[in-house]
Amino acid sequence: MVQKYAFGSPFETEAVTAGPAAVEYTGQAVCGDIPVDISLENGFACSCQLSDTDIVYGLGEANRGINKRGYRYVSNCTDDPHHTEEKVSLYGAHNFVIISGKKHVGLFFDYPSNISFDIGYTRQDLLTVCCERADLYLYVITGESARDVARQFRRIIGKSYIAPRYAFGFGQSRWGYRTAEDIEGVVKGYRENEIPLDMVYMDIDYMQDYKDFTVNPERFPDFGEFVQKMKAEKIHLIPIIDAGVKIEQGYDIYEEGMEKGYFCKREDGSDFVAAVWPGWTHFPDVLNPEARAWFGGKYQILTDLGIDGFWNDMNEPAVFYSEEGIRALNQAIDDHVKAFSDAGGAKDLLNNASAVPYEARAILEKIQNNEEDYRRFYHKVDGKMIRHDLVHNLFGFNMTRAAGEALQKIAPEKKMLLFSRSSYIGMHRYGGIWTGDNQSWWSHILLNLKMMPSLNMCGFLYAGADLGGFGSDTTRDLLLRWLALGVFTPLMRNHTAIGTREQECYRFGQIEDFRHVIGVRYRLIPYLYSEYLKAVENDEMYFRPLGFDYPDDRRAVETEDQLMLGDEVMIAPVYTQNVSGRTVYLPEEMKFVKFMPDGSLHEEILSQGTHYVEVALNEVPLFIRKDRCIPVVDAAQNVDAIDMGTVRYVGYDGAVYEIVE
Ligand code: NOJ
Repeated sequence: MVQKYAFGSPFETEAVTAGPAAVEYTGQAVCGDIPVDISLENGFACSCQLSDTDIVYGLGEANRGINKRGYRYVSNCTDDPHHTEEKVSLYGAHNFVIISGKKHVGLFFDYPSNISFDIGYTRQDLLTVCCERADLYLYVITGESARDVARQFRRIIGKSYIAPRYAFGFGQSRWGYRTAEDIEGVVKGYRENEIPLDMVYMDIDYMQDYKDFTVNPERFPDFGEFVQKMKAEKIHLIPIIDAGVKIEQGYDIYEEGMEKGYFCKREDGSDFVAAVWPGWTHFPDVLNPEARAWFGGKYQILTDLGIDGFWNDMNEPAVFYSEEGIRALNQAIDDHVKAFSDAGGAKDLLNNASAVPYEARAILEKIQNNEEDYRRFYHKVDGKMIRHDLVHNLFGFNMTRAAGEALQKIAPEKKMLLFSRSSYIGMHRYGGIWTGDNQSWWSHILLNLKMMPSLNMCGFLYAGADLGGFGSDTTRDLLLRWLALGVFTPLMRNHTAIGTREQECYRFGQIEDFRHVIGVRYRLIPYLYSEYLKAVENDEMYFRPLGFDYPDDRRAVETEDQLMLGDEVMIAPVYTQNVSGRTVYLPEEMKFVKFMPDGSLHEEILSQGTHYVEVALNEVPLFIRKDRCIPVVDAAQNVDAIDMGTVRYVGYDGAVYEIVE
């Protein structure tokens, strides 16, 4: 059952597409026998009592465990590349939690600004959700299980975006591919070494001076022809699009946006200016439907050249600094220089002016993604100006919606690849997400695994992390182990930052191991894509915590390093260094299957309970549930080359598997 409560004057985020009409909150306990206390005395605060054994699922793209209990989180879309354990905000804002124990309750706080979740952080037995203004919708969903609650939630937020089949292939990316030759070199590296590949991602360097919807003509002399040449080699090029539009006379997108008044404005009506990669930029007002349609329409410049996939970046939106910020910094430095000379030079500086450099440093530390900047610009919604910070978490959603709606119009019959860095619930109808700037750390393999089911609960099915790690230098073993998880994530992309070690799979010794591990992905694509489509169609999760399938098995409920996938599979990747296997918990008898480097399969029935399973660096493990089976095909060099005539079924004899096309 879903109930919707309105508080104050909520902003219509369009996260929800169906469900009951809102009823006004009357000061009663919100939901029958479920103890939800609401206080409107100081903004909005909602508290729920947690019993000792309650699990709290949810929050989509958030740090820490599958069970969110014991920490605090703030939905505040943030460009922060350091995903260390103490971080409370990442790029997305997914305000949905499920309290699961004797009862199962889902709570969705449809509120587009900063909102905090204290999940047993201050008091072990209390979940408290707070925001500054009591203007929101609260959805309360009760169900017979966590899985049922998640399904009901998915039904009201609308069907998830469907990625094209080719997007289940493997993709290579690096911030730093500058020229057509760089990209050709990558394709050659993969093809010559017979490592499967379907996509090469183009990071900001393909553009002319980081201008959206431009291609540098010197580095890509005939881009349209290049796209076709790559297509002939079965490679889809996937360019990045950034949120900020460069301010430059003569740049048509800038000039058009100015003329039509489609950029975000300051209170005095002037266009807000922020520095991002291209230097000074304006932000397209993607919350204004007209401006959104205008910005989305620009994707056609690239689809006309044969492009059929995009990734949207920097759309929290990230601000390196604003004009106002840089002015404040300059002022602090000037003050410092003045104080320095008033003090008679360096000799007396420490005695007389020590506070001034501190002020400059403090400004410098806060100059990026500064909250004050988010209060400096406005969106035009229904003829009214809305200050950005009040709807901050909707920018990435609406930038991707701009693209999604436009692509639908440009080629209604075609599925295009589209994913975003920043998101809010609702964006899942238009595209997928990648989880941003992780690091080449072992702990981030596990973080990747834990985020997946939480994202699925919120509708984001096409999702994945930068395999191998974005920041810092990867290692061969880390990349291989991470790929063995990536085999199962819908987005399987190796991406890394400029300045890091080269991370393409053919750069490392014993290339056959990479060929094999990525080859396993292709062997499983018919199964994985089918499970993905089923999950979209049935509002189900592609990845589930074990507790969703085995709610009465406490050991399963507490397992955080294994996932259920589709109806047949459990995965348990290795995520520690220098080990030859791992311990795995089987909630029921299952068949342990390992894809061996020689192409054969190791199959072994394991009983319910705990097992140590050996998994070498070049093996890919999975588990098949009792009495189920999955289709496996031969490896192929790209998705189009998969031979559907070679299907064999692996698992329990006599089991039947339903394929969705
Ligand atoms: C930030 C993104 O998260 C990263 O993936 C990308 O490589 C850089 N921006 C440069 O575009």
